[in-house]
Amino acid sequence: MNRTSELQGQVAVITGSAVGIGRGVALGLAARGMSIVGLDVDIVGNDETARQVRALGNHFMDVHCDLGDPTAIARAFAAVDARFGRVDVLLNNAALWLDCSLTGGSFESQSVNFLRSMNACAMGSYYCALAATPLLRKHGGDIINIITEHIKEGHYITGRPATGYDCAKFSQWRLTESWAIELAPLGIRVNALCFGATDTPMLRAAAPHIADKAMQPADLAQAVYNVISHGPGGPTGQTYLFGTSGSPREASVRQIEALGP
Ligand SMILES: NC(=O)c1ccc[n+]([C@@H]2O[C@H](COP(=O)([O-])OP(=O)(O)OC[C@H]3O[C@@H](n4cnc5c(N)ncnc54)[C@H](O)[C@@H]3O)[C@@H](O)[C@H]2O)c1
Repeated sequence: MNRTSELQGQVAVITGSAVGIGRGVALGLAARGMSIVGLDVDIVGNDETARQVRALGNHFMDVHCDLGDPTAIARAFAAVDARFGRVDVLLNNAALWLDCSLTGGSFESQSVNFLRSMNACAMGSYYCALAATPLLRKHGGDIINIITEHIKEGHYITGRPATGYDCAKFSQWRLTESWAIELAPLGIRVNALCFGATDTPMLRAAAPHIADKAMQPADLAQAVYNVISHGPGGPTGQTYLFGTSGSPREASVRQIEALGP
């Protein structure tokens, strides 16, 4: 089923919308008619996402908040309810890649890095899903967790310093499967995207040498669209693996096409 026309007037909430994949998905869904709510700590970047979404003729609600702050998240979703009265898609996309190694710094620096990594991704995903569920259940909808290939067998990353990032990603995996079971009776599907290198500020900072041949944020927008295109009754609880690091972009794009109905 093609849901393009059905997306008109629907609302997508995207965390980490200021740059990279978050901005790419915001633009991809706005181009198909959705209103976008973007949650980010980066005011300047989110202003630019807002400008680009509005240039497509769609609404962008700019929410400046830290995803580790449950009070701010509750306030943000109350504002979404007041303005739109619904949420159709929640994309838990934000994450932080920080050195959390036990030998890489002081107790204070490493524990702060671990907390920030968990807050941006694991806690943020939980708080947003908790606040979004009453709005998602009104018409049914989708929660999509942006994970990584790191949680998949054969792609585990061990011995790397970003243990906070990886722990948050394993948390999102567990949340995906548990929420899929809990929310199925409410008409809410929960799925996750597990993939590799994508050309964003995060990749440019971590591995600039592979960024040029990586997937683009627009490819991830297509992946999100293909997953939501299944509509009610589509798969839930899936952790889709595609676009693993080192794959040619054309091969990744073909795998993304296969995610659709
Ligand atoms: N880029 C890749 O190669 C790649 C590969 C696999 C998975 N991913 C995943 O895709 C997602 C997006 O990655 P990206 O490369 O676009 O990242 P990015 O670092 O380029 O952007 C992340 C965004 O999240 C925001 N953010 C971080 N912490 C926040 C917080 N506490 N509160 C609010 N906003 C916060 C940042 O300000 C930024 O705008 C992440 O979950 C990442 O793990 C990326």
